[in-house]
Amino acid sequence: MNRAETMLMNNPARARLQRAYEVPLLQRLGAELDEADVVEIGCGRGVGTELLLRRMGAAHVTALDLDPAMVQRAQRRLARYATRVDVKLGDACELPLADAAVDAVVDFGVIHHVPAWRDAVAEVARVLRPGGQFVFEEVTRHALQRWSYRTFLEHPEHDRFSAEEFLAELARIGFTLPRPAVTRFFGDFVIGVAVKPSTTRPGPR
Ligand SMILES: C[S@@+](CC[C@H](N)C(=O)[O-])C[C@H]1O[C@@H](n2cnc3c(N)ncnc32)[C@H](O)[C@@H]1O
Repeated sequence: MNRAETMLMNNPARARLQRAYEVPLLQRLGAELDEADVVEIGCGRGVGTELLLRRMGAAHVTALDLDPAMVQRAQRRLARYATRVDVKLGDACELPLADAAVDAVVDFGVIHHVPAWRDAVAEVARVLRPGGQFVFEEVTRHALQRWSYRTFLEHPEHDRFSAEEFLAELARIGFTLPRPAVTRFFGDFVIGVAVKPSTTRPGPR
């Protein structure tokens, strides 16, 4: 993330949005993390991780980020949760977890930062147990093409996804969405809860 986006993310307004809007919406869409073993990819400064533990009832969260400065911030914020949280460096495309290791993977606006975004989605599927949930809030190509995003923020420029393409990739891998995902802000965001089936057999890309 560049300076502008770091300021946007490490900001009380971002925390309020996550707490007051995104978490309740994800719960309405079927996110069920009570007593779950969760991994959060791209945890940033750890506000989302705290919500997963306190508001959504996760038993344990492995919180990962590619940026060492963010990991340090999150470690400071989350120190009080002791053994319920493990905050460390980690790449969404190469998760430091065994196959079928967790009950849920949470993505608060991270995969649109990943150049090989389909690899990140495949990693999510790999580490989830059958029946596990992929809880996502993602930023689409529609947003990334806006003047404001192109001028002030930095994202990979090629092969960004629309809401439909993101959902199609989930379907190709075999995820199902018991409740339809929603788009927000004229299609800038796609938000939903996908479930990994008992067996995944990806279709052709
Ligand atoms: C837009 S911020 C979102 C931060 C936080 N999830 C939130 O909602 O406030 C994206 C975060 O993803 C991290 N990130 C980017 N690419 C990543 C990757 N491949 N693996 C893990 N984290 C990544 C960035 O360092 C940054 O902290």
